Amino acid sequence: MCDDSVHQPIAVATAPGKFILTGEHAVVYGTPAIACPVAGVHAKAQVYPSDTEGIAVDAVDINTKIRTSIDLDHPISLATNNLLQHFEIEKAPALHVKLSSTIPIAAGLGSGAAITTALIKGLTQAMDLQLSTAELSSQVYEIEKLFHGTPSGIDNTVIAYAQSVWFIRDEALEPINTVSQFDILIADTGVASETMTAVAGVRERYTKAPSQYRAYFDAITELGHQARTHIENGHITALGPILSKNHVLLQNIGVSSSELNTLVDAATNAGALGAKLSGGGVGGNMIALVEPNTISSVTTALFNAGATRVIHTQVS
Ligand code: MEV
Repeated sequence: MCDDSVHQPIAVATAPGKFILTGEHAVVYGTPAIACPVAGVHAKAQVYPSDTEGIAVDAVDINTKIRTSIDLDHPISLATNNLLQHFEIEKAPALHVKLSSTIPIAAGLGSGAAITTALIKGLTQAMDLQLSTAELSSQVYEIEKLFHGTPSGIDNTVIAYAQSVWFIRDEALEPINTVSQFDILIADTGVASETMTAVAGVRERYTKAPSQYRAYFDAITELGHQARTHIENGHITALGPILSKNHVLLQNIGVSSSELNTLVDAATNAGALGAKLSGGGVGGNMIALVEPNTISSVTTALFNAGATRVIHTQVS
């Protein structure tokens, strides 16, 4: 392998994190959801030429080296080999990829999807291949299925397109037209969020009480439509109560937790316009919609209520 310290990468690609503004879980059942990229955190792939045959990936954060022609079951190898297969490339070029990420893991912020996205983008650039964003998203989706069972596809979509989206499963995404930018605080409970387990729990409860769960999903759908209208009309303050109502519905479907509820209450008591859990729930992150003059006080309130990390992001 070449000494990367003396080489410039031949390709560098990044992918953002994500949060879900409205509609998580219900989206698995075909209802719309709104998801936004988080530009302040990202996964990054730096691709270098190598003296060693094949593609080697160094996942630097977890101190793991993957040889994609040998460690065939590793998700990184599957992503790489699917890409080669897509382009009918039989002999992998000699490349060394350094993969890193600043996106918190198991926090509902799309870390896995972002790592796969950065990897595929980096490799396609390094090999001078043309992959459309839709194809990129669907390649990432194949890997997401390994981790999340039956994901809706929202994470790979918002991350591959790196823009706020109105997403309905198996339909073409619609970009969300943000008239006024708005501020979101993303606070971590410090409790790992296992999306697959949370989704399976909802499935179990849905199967036992389908009409009740359908009613919850319909209510979440209605909130999603209202949220989209407010965003597209620049009525940001009206968005706050919608997020809080969505949180109550997520409590009803059993995916909140005492830690999430505590952070949601702390944010709203400190002046956030609205707050809710975001993503798979049970642990992971919550989001709070804030006005610029309450960013600091709400951040302090979230830390005081036990948040282990608070990220400020602007949606524009
Ligand atoms: C995870 O980011 C969002 C969920 O709705 C799962 C999914 O859509 O696949 C909980």
